[in-house]
Amino acid sequence: MQKAVSLPLPPADALAASDSLATLIGETIDAAGGWIGFDRYMSLALYAPGLGYYSGGAAKFGRDVRDGSDFVTAPELSPFFARTLARQFVPLLAQGLPRMLEFGAGTGRLAADLLLALEQEGQLPESYCIVELSGELRARQQDTLTQRAPHLATRVQWLDTLPERFEGIIVGNEVLDAMPVRLFARTGGRWHERGVARSVTGDDSTAAHAFSFEDRLIPAHSVPDALRAMPGDHDIVTETHAESDGFARAVGAMLARGAAFFIDYGFPSGEYYHPQRAGGTLMCHYRHHAHPDPFLYPGLQDITAHVNFSGIAHAAVDAGLAVSGYTSQARFLMNAGITDLLMTLDPSDTRAFLPAANAVQKLLSEAEMGELFKVIALTRGLDESEPLAGFARGDRCHTL
Ligand SMILES: C[S@@+](CC[C@H](N)C(=O)[O-])C[C@H]1O[C@@H](n2cnc3c(N)ncnc32)[C@H](O)[C@@H]1O
Repeated sequence: MQKAVSLPLPPADALAASDSLATLIGETIDAAGGWIGFDRYMSLALYAPGLGYYSGGAAKFGRDVRDGSDFVTAPELSPFFARTLARQFVPLLAQGLPRMLEFGAGTGRLAADLLLALEQEGQLPESYCIVELSGELRARQQDTLTQRAPHLATRVQWLDTLPERFEGIIVGNEVLDAMPVRLFARTGGRWHERGVARSVTGDDSTAAHAFSFEDRLIPAHSVPDALRAMPGDHDIVTETHAESDGFARAVGAMLARGAAFFIDYGFPSGEYYHPQRAGGTLMCHYRHHAHPDPFLYPGLQDITAHVNFSGIAHAAVDAGLAVSGYTSQARFLMNAGITDLLMTLDPSDTRAFLPAANAVQKLLSEAEMGELFKVIALTRGLDESEPLAGFARGDRCHTL
């Protein structure tokens, strides 16, 4: 793995935390006999208590490198994202679904802006629960809610486990891409699982490069079906998503009536496992640089893979849910009325209007988030006479 030499160096305390995480990961590898699956590595790198990227002190979300952040998400980019989602949620709240649940709420920005928008529409949910794996983010969410929507903050509760049964609206933005994936490599026509071992290159013993990939041949009968079906025998690296599929099944088991909306980057199986996508989709984010090295500074950078929306849809259907919509983020937001909302601002007030219009453009543009990001709605027991407005035009369920 090449060193990403142009990336900014972390401060000394962050490097020390990364070294501690690398020690923990190294011990885990030793205890497992010298090799762990990439999913185990990713899980430790992101969620090891107190040290993982999401559970430790990294800034994570923000506008640019100056605030020490690594990436920006739609709710951070513009309140119009939450306001438009609120327009989709209003008729559902009015259908007698007065509870909401958000997975992986990040800084709490989506929760705060959704609650403010729903209050304005006269459709505040009775309760808003957050399921968050990271204690550090939970505290940040509490601060954001207290600052942005102090009068609504008491409606929000944090859950340590999933409720057995939930009726209401579920939302998760960029949560599925943060779930660990397994890596597989087809080389010389044979499938290997690509896992992680201690680095043997010996050029650098610091946390920055303590690990490297190691491929293990797997017997033909253990090759996941999606991979076995890939045509050709050229070399390919790709991912499988047992954890996010399991998550979709758990959501299906829990959702007794209502709708779950997941927004994320990804595609259906046909595109995901296209023979031309030979390098897979694993990507890391550090200080607003996207790069492919998951072993750089464990715990100080985000590691993600695109979502296989067919996998999510099939797992949800297995659990008894219906797929009531799947489309691009741009289509969804336009269908749900983002441009009408933007036009409530006065275009002659350029100081307010131009930054708002720029941010909305990023949410919609094909070259930015509009096409790569998708929205999927998984539902049970909804009133079928009221289809979901966000999928009114350009629904792509048939591609899943
Ligand atoms: C990329 S961040 C997105 C945060 C926020 N939704 C946003 O859009 O800014 C991913 C979030 O998903 C959370 N997460 C990952 N797996 C989760 C799970 N199984 N349950 C709940 N949260 C999860 C992480 O802790 C983190 O808060």
